[in-house]
Amino acid sequence: MNLTITVIKADIGSIGGHLVPSTPLVTAVEEHVRGAAAGLLLDFHVGHTGDDVAILMTHTRGTGDPYVHRVAWDAFLAGTAVAKGEGLYGAGQDLLKESFSGNVRGMGPAVAEMTVAERAAEPFLLFAADKTDPGAFNLPLYLAFADPMNTPGLLLAPKMAKGFRFVVMDVAHVEGDRIIELQTPEDLYDLAALLRDPERYVVESVWSRATGDQAAVVATSRLHNIAGKYTGKDDPVMLVRCQMQFPATGEVLAPFQIGHFVAGGMRGSHNMPLMPVTLGSPVSYFDGPPIVTCGAYSVRNGVLTGPVDPFAHPFWDAVRTRVAEKAVEMRRQGFFGAAMLPMSELEYTGIMEKLAELDRRFRLRPEERHQEQASVVTAH
Ligand code: 13P
Ligand code: 13P
Ligand code: MG
Ligand code: MG
Ligand code: MG
Ligand code: MG
Repeated sequence: MNLTITVIKADIGSIGGHLVPSTPLVTAVEEHVRGAAAGLLLDFHVGHTGDDVAILMTHTRGTGDPYVHRVAWDAFLAGTAVAKGEGLYGAGQDLLKESFSGNVRGMGPAVAEMTVAERAAEPFLLFAADKTDPGAFNLPLYLAFADPMNTPGLLLAPKMAKGFRFVVMDVAHVEGDRIIELQTPEDLYDLAALLRDPERYVVESVWSRATGDQAAVVATSRLHNIAGKYTGKDDPVMLVRCQMQFPATGEVLAPFQIGHFVAGGMRGSHNMPLMPVTLGSPVSYFDGPPIVTCGAYSVRNGVLTGPVDPFAHPFWDAVRTRVAEKAVEMRRQGFFGAAMLPMSELEYTGIMEKLAELDRRFRLRPEERHQEQASVVTAH
């Protein structure tokens, strides 16, 4: 069967700042989806990561379906009404357009969806990150799909030995989607050259070269491209199919032990390590650290079993301790240098007004002072 797996997520309000949505909010989203599911969805699951609510849906209507997207949009409106009633912070934060226009792409919510020929056993992972942007998945995808040091399947599983095709998007390009396709292993260094810049080049999807099947899809939307200013972090979701022609579940999870530095954290403007946390986890320290959750599912005829929570395993407690230490270490240097994001990201924030004001106060040093200084230097 051709199954479409769709995940759509949005921040529609949270308790005590940007921490976690309320139970009534999540219930309102869930109830709306349940009410709309008959005849449209095969199954669904609603979860949350930090302050973002994700709706996972299975159906046979293909990607970009206006009815499926409308379910999510209306569910987020229902949740927003609850958020407003409770005085939650940032009620409706990611609903950037007034009215629904057939597809939530370009309207604020993040979308990742793919249509697959459902395998007899179909394990997949739903990753959801908060307080970061879609480039956060560049490194884990590179390691899981292209690096035999991480993924022994590239040596041991003949179908994986043919490598993978990466579709990479230039997310700084605002007029239309600009993409490039690269094949590993041949194009590995070219892929690395792009993925090293995760604010600009983002892995959008990964495909098996042996079978042509899609392995992964990432929500690539950048909110500042839609809003023209900082309205919160993108907080991407990602779907990854596992096993057989794809990496094993443990190979996909393994790179998250690095706790790599990503863009995000406080006011979305810092470099902070990505911490793998349990399902439903809030954020805390410095509006972060940026977090990622993983829900592991199996699906048969569109019916979901799961999620189980791989990051709830005790192994990840040791990882979390190390990532917390990395976060504190980076925070020791405050706003200086690498701790804060480069201007290309900050230009969507209020710092531009301050810099424009300071720019007016800069003046050229008078010519005679130049000469005076030059002669002092020569005299020495
Ligand atoms: P099991 O014998 O537990 O199924 O392990 C199979 C495997 O290859 C794990 O990577
Ligand atoms: P969110 O995108 O998760 O709302 O983060 C906003 C923010 O600026 C936190 O400091
Ligand atoms: Mg928020
Ligand atoms: Mg968020
Ligand atoms: Mg956000
Ligand atoms: Mg087994």
